[in-house]
Amino acid sequence: MDMLHIRGGKALCGEVAVSGAKNAALPIMAAALAVDGPCRLRGVPELVDVRTLSTLLGELGTTVTREEDGGLLLATADNSSCVATYEQVRRMRASICVLGPLLARRGRACVSLPGGCNIGHRPIDLHLKGLAALGAEIRVERGYVIAEAVRLYGANIYLGGAFGSTVTGTCNVMSAAVLAEGTTTIEAAACEPEVADLGRFLNAAGARISGLGTPFVRIEGVEQLTGTEHTVIPDRIEAATLMMAAAITRGEATLRNVCVRHMTAVLEKLREMGVTIRVNGSTVHVRCDGPLRPVDCIALPYPGIPTDVQAQLTALLGTTAGISIVTDKVFPDRFMHVSELLRVGARIRREGNNAIVSGSDSLSGASVMASDLRASAALVLAALAAEGDSVVRRIYHLDRGYERLEDKLTRLGADVSRVKDDPAHVPASLRPDEERRQVPLRPPHFARPAAPREIGSSGVAVPPPSAGKSSSAGNSPSAR
Ligand code: UD1
Repeated sequence: MDMLHIRGGKALCGEVAVSGAKNAALPIMAAALAVDGPCRLRGVPELVDVRTLSTLLGELGTTVTREEDGGLLLATADNSSCVATYEQVRRMRASICVLGPLLARRGRACVSLPGGCNIGHRPIDLHLKGLAALGAEIRVERGYVIAEAVRLYGANIYLGGAFGSTVTGTCNVMSAAVLAEGTTTIEAAACEPEVADLGRFLNAAGARISGLGTPFVRIEGVEQLTGTEHTVIPDRIEAATLMMAAAITRGEATLRNVCVRHMTAVLEKLREMGVTIRVNGSTVHVRCDGPLRPVDCIALPYPGIPTDVQAQLTALLGTTAGISIVTDKVFPDRFMHVSELLRVGARIRREGNNAIVSGSDSLSGASVMASDLRASAALVLAALAAEGDSVVRRIYHLDRGYERLEDKLTRLGADVSRVKDDPAHVPASLRPDEERRQVPLRPPHFARPAAPREIGSSGVAVPPPSAGKSSSAGNSPSAR
């Protein structure tokens, strides 16, 4: 397992390009199951989640090939398999996106329930309600959702839930309804840009979807979808994370390939805090050279502040003097990062569904542990701002959703390296004094041979006069 070693306290400065959006790429790749003919996707980031879904699609008869120019080619050779196993689905919740396309194209889908999650309760009842409304027979057996339908029929479907609309639920219902007989309307559809991007991909393949990006989506079913090409939208979450990396180090960054239209709420909030943001087409320059102001923020469905940047904003506010209140209305329990942020000296208190952040102007490096994808990003940001060394552990979460984040941060001037997570790579400054004293200077076989011991008058061996002195000198931090 790897960890990131970050030497913080350096103001960032530089230019990087933002990758394609993970949350658009995954449902689009899954939707290729419903398409007859090869699909070529550009802008699909190289991520663990993309590899996981590629493996699952391979098991379902759709081969995924990364081409020389970076494009992703998806081609279905065999439409017979309908089973997404727990082995694959448990690795990534977004695997549930294969449910709708499989059902629509193959008449049957048997998909493992995704199971627990670190960011809170994540049921799929709305996905199932939508597919049932299209005429699917659905049952849950031995941890699997089994959905069957000889033919799907258009219906009026309301997809709102207690926490708003559902992103992957809308993707699933939309990807199934495109092949249903008749017209489907989805009310309270998720308006996230990634859902609209899936819709554009499906339309390019021959679907007839209107109202994309609004809560009212209309789909006229077609007989067949055919192979197509599509470029995935830029990742607004990665862009926001990099903007906040510049802000938290009180530095600056120029980001290319940003779709600012998708980021209004985040840009507003950063400007309210005092971050200077200049937009020139798809290039954004972020600069932060003065003290920031505390703000209150609420994570909401699009076009609100995304829940996927809530943790990173909390980290940034942790360096902003004054009191800020952070609330998450999408995943009200998504605060696993708070206890780790305390380890770098942030002052944050959980109160119900809020984090009360009392910003501190000095964070200090620490060893911290990531609990989920966006929490990892928050910890990386905090470590960039903290004085001294930090290590961020369990970064496999980070690798699921950020394409070579440490390379991008390095290009922006950060001191970040990926190392194996073992005690030898933990910087001396992060080992408690006690542990440092106990670590021998050299392995025992390199030690000087011990002087012969004298037997004291009591009959007990006594150490030679120099022994105590040399051992304490040898283990002192300065001798290491
Ligand atoms: C997607 C994103 C994730 C993001 C989230 C919210 C992908 C691959 N993942 O996740 O990064 O954090 O949207 O923007 O795109 N809910 C129900 N019943 C359901 C489905 C959801 O009650 O059937 C609730 C959830 O518990 C949550 C809220 O609705 O409180 C939003 O969840 P949802 O939009 O479905 O999240 P995902 O699609 O899983």
